[in-house]
Order: sequence, then C-alpha cells, then structure tokens
Amino acid sequence: MTKKDTAKRVALVTGGVGGIGSAICKELATKGFKVIAGYHPAEEQTAQERLKEWKREGLDADIASGDVSSFSSCAESAKKILDKYGHVDVLVNCAGITRDKTLRKMSEDEWQSVLNVDLNSLFNVTKQFIDGMSDRGFGRIVNISSVNGKKGQFGQTNYSAAKAGVHGFTMALAQEVARKGVTVNSVSPGYVETAMTKAIPPEISKQIVSQIPLNRMAQPDEIAYVVSFLCDDRAGYITGTNISVNGGLFISF
Ligand code: CAA
Repeated sequence: MTKKDTAKRVALVTGGVGGIGSAICKELATKGFKVIAGYHPAEEQTAQERLKEWKREGLDADIASGDVSSFSSCAESAKKILDKYGHVDVLVNCAGITRDKTLRKMSEDEWQSVLNVDLNSLFNVTKQFIDGMSDRGFGRIVNISSVNGKKGQFGQTNYSAAKAGVHGFTMALAQEVARKGVTVNSVSPGYVETAMTKAIPPEISKQIVSQIPLNRMAQPDEIAYVVSFLCDDRAGYITGTNISVNGGLFISF
C-alpha cells in the first residue's frame, strides 16, 4: 500500500442519500474518507441537494446514480466510479426498502422488490468491487441488515427474509476474502428515526417503541458511528460478524 493509498480511502455507500445512508456518508467524510453516495435515479433531486450541503460543509463527497436491484445498472455505475476514482476501498451496502404486509395480503411484486433491493443488491454491487479490493489487498465491506432480520417482524416476511439473508452473505463472503485483507461485516440497526419508520402507523410505532428498553428510536448518526468503526483501517481483525445497534430490542450473543 503506498502512502497515497492510505491517505485517502474511497468509500461507496449505496442508499447514500437516504436517512441512515446520509449519516454514514457524513460520518465517513468527516473521518477523512472520500465518499461517494450511491442513489436511485428517482432520487436525483435529493442527491443534488445532499451534495450541495456536503460541499458547503467542506466534505469530500460525490454522488453516483444506479439501481442496486439491477446488475447491469450496477456494472455501469461502477465503471463510472472506477474511471473517475480508480478504486473503491470501502463499500457500505445500505440501500433498502420496505413493503410491509402480512403474507396473506402480500403481492408477488412486494415480495420480489424487497428481495431484489435488500438482498440481491449485495450480489449486484459487491461483485463490481470485490476483485479490485482483493487485488489491492485491502477492503472493508459493511452490509446494513436489521434487527428484524434476527428476530422476524409481524408484517415483514419479505424484509425479515432479505435481512436474514444479508447475514448469510456476510458470513460466507468474509471467509472467502479474509486472506486478501478484505473484511466483511454486517450492522443490524433497530428502529431508527427516518422516513422508513415514519411510514409505520403511529399506534403501531408507539407500541414498538414501548418494547425497546432504551424507550426511543435511534438517531441515524448512532448507526453511522458503528459503521465507521468497522470501516477503519484498524478494524482489520473483525470479520464475518454482526453488530446490533437496537437499543436492546433484541438482545442476543
Ligand atoms: N403481533 C400479532 N398480531 C398482530 C400484530 C403483531 N405485532 N400486529 C397486528 N396484529 C394483528 C391485529 O391485531 C389484527 O388482528 P385481528 O385481525 O384479530 O383484528 C391483525 O393482526 C391485522 O392483520 P392485518 O393483516 O390486517 O394487518 P394490518 O393491515 O392491520 O397491518 C402491517 C399489517 C401493515 C404490517 C402493520 O402491522 C405494520 O405496519 N406493522 C409494522 C411493521 C414494522 O415494524 N415495520 C418496520 C418498518 S421500519 C424497518 O423495517 C426498519 C428496520 O430495519 C427496523
């Protein structure tokens, strides 16, 4: 690794203009990473606004459009990123959606779209960068899962299945690339104050919060802090693991 390489790590965060993703981008940029926020083409306006905000704050950030549920879109987006920056050292797979319904009411599209965005995206995006990280002998991959991938949640068979799958992907890939200096971990947030949780009906949301020992939802930067810890050069001996950031909602080891 040359001095220049270690001076500025390049980090790509998918879902980088969303609630948790934006906080991760900001945290990493503040810690000295060059950050690229991936966003869905439909989020163009939000992405441009975020970029302006980050530039105003003096952060080293950029944005990159792409659909994580499409392999070809990810390949196209990755090519542009690699042409511009040469490599990606850190990948945070954060893009995610919900389509909450009980299984009896869930349509095939609601099942497939959640599996595509929340789980198949890990294949689509990670495939674009894993060779580069392995060849360079350094990489940090952090996959954002969920407390509901560990405990299951009423109304989320699609989301819980996808997020549980994220753990399987993480544990398997960690073994494959450990000897190449690439670590692969997952972070499982609990309920975080974002647009995603604002969509939960208020009475259900209130009932969920009452079950959280900390008695509140998390703030996005409480998740971002843990992600940035795993992205640090010094976190090189942590791989294949999962860190819960759930306020005690699901306590396990
Ligand atoms: N456990 C057991 N029974 C429950 C229940 C629960 N948690 N919640 C509702 N029920 C019961 C209701 O009392 C009702 O019973 P009756 O039929 O006897 O009246 C029945 O189940 C309702 O079933 P429906 O199929 O009609 O469900 P619904 O349309 O009322 O609501 C839902 C379904 C939209 C999924 C709603 O329950 C909901 O929004 N739940 C919240 C899901 C959730 O936590 N989402 C997280 C989003 S944020 C996120 O995902 C981020 C993250 O990583 C944490």
